[in-house]
Amino acid sequence: MKILGIESSCDETAASVVEDGQTLLSNVVNSQIDIHAVYGGVVPEVAARSHIEVINPVINQALAEANCTWDDIDAIAVTYAPGLIGSLLVGTLAARTLAVLKNKPLYPVHHVLAHVYANFLIKERSRTTEESASSGDRLKLPTRQPEFPMLALIVSGGHSQLVLFRNHGDFELLGQTQDDAVGEAFDKVAKIIGLPYPGGPSIATAAISGNPEAYKLPKSKLSGKYDFSFSGLKTAVLRAVQAEAGVDITFPSSGLAGLLNDVQRHNFAASFQRVAIETLIDKTELAFNDFQPKSVVIAGGVAANAELRRMLSERLPINIEYAPMNLCTDNAAMVATAGYYLAQRNQPIEPYDLEVIPSLSMNSLKTTV
Ligand code: KG4
Ligand code: ZN
Repeated sequence: MKILGIESSCDETAASVVEDGQTLLSNVVNSQIDIHAVYGGVVPEVAARSHIEVINPVINQALAEANCTWDDIDAIAVTYAPGLIGSLLVGTLAARTLAVLKNKPLYPVHHVLAHVYANFLIKERSRTTEESASSGDRLKLPTRQPEFPMLALIVSGGHSQLVLFRNHGDFELLGQTQDDAVGEAFDKVAKIIGLPYPGGPSIATAAISGNPEAYKLPKSKLSGKYDFSFSGLKTAVLRAVQAEAGVDITFPSSGLAGLLNDVQRHNFAASFQRVAIETLIDKTELAFNDFQPKSVVIAGGVAANAELRRMLSERLPINIEYAPMNLCTDNAAMVATAGYYLAQRNQPIEPYDLEVIPSLSMNSLKTTV
């Protein structure tokens, strides 16, 4: 079964074809990072307009790269929640229209759940020798799919959660952030110390040449056993930067970056990254010990963080096979994959009934999926 996935919930316009929920046939991602970098963050109206411009070419390219015509496509899966309303509308409208015109079943996919399903991709389409020569290295995909029960650490720009999956469609939220998502903390700290948007990759790169012990930053203590909190850590960085720059706490954060030198900047990046990652790993380890899952996966943009991968593998007594970095950040392959498993258990939605839900939590899916 070949599924065309469509993703447009934030600032990536993406389309992909995946076969049987495990074989990647194509993966096209049009990133708007350069457009939004000028503003230091995603501007919703600009994002929606850019999605409109590229969605059709991106879908056509995904079909072409998969060597598929519409006849080969069995269903369409699209992100309908959560995300920016204008962005979600573009992808879902395209999917609804195509579902009607091409007469294909349509499956609505939750973006955060989709991130988890990036870990179920274990094969790539075979390529001709010519294609291999022109399209570069193959992805390093996991060798087998995760087994249930599966513990998922979901860490993105909007989410930080620990979820226990007993099976497809049968999951339990163990804990989540009580304030900022960890990716949001990476982005905000990057802004304070003067690293470019998006902050996650910038901090990860700067941290390589920094000293993670340079600044003592606190780990938050929370009552919920598997819950996270990152806003205190972000404020602690702000206070430490103000102290280092020799200004008081009323000094505006926007003016701080210019007072730091590169050594200080790299040290702040490394010190923040270490505490943020340790916080994630401490809670994952607790959940691992309590629930003894057969597999552990990480999902979402922050799962692309090399230090998080290294430290998690070091700490947990289980072999973890990570998805390639480009399947951790937003893409449509994860949507097509999640769509396949939805299609095994659910009826498709009527295209005219599909509505976007900008702030639907994954936990509320338990009653609908
Ligand atoms: O999943 P994603 O692409 O979009 C959302 O659904 O939010 O995640 C984006 C987040 C951003 O906060 C970005 O800074 C962060 O993922 N991120 C990283 C890395 N790459 C992306 N954070 C830490 N280290 C990275 N290498
Ligand atoms: Zn995402």
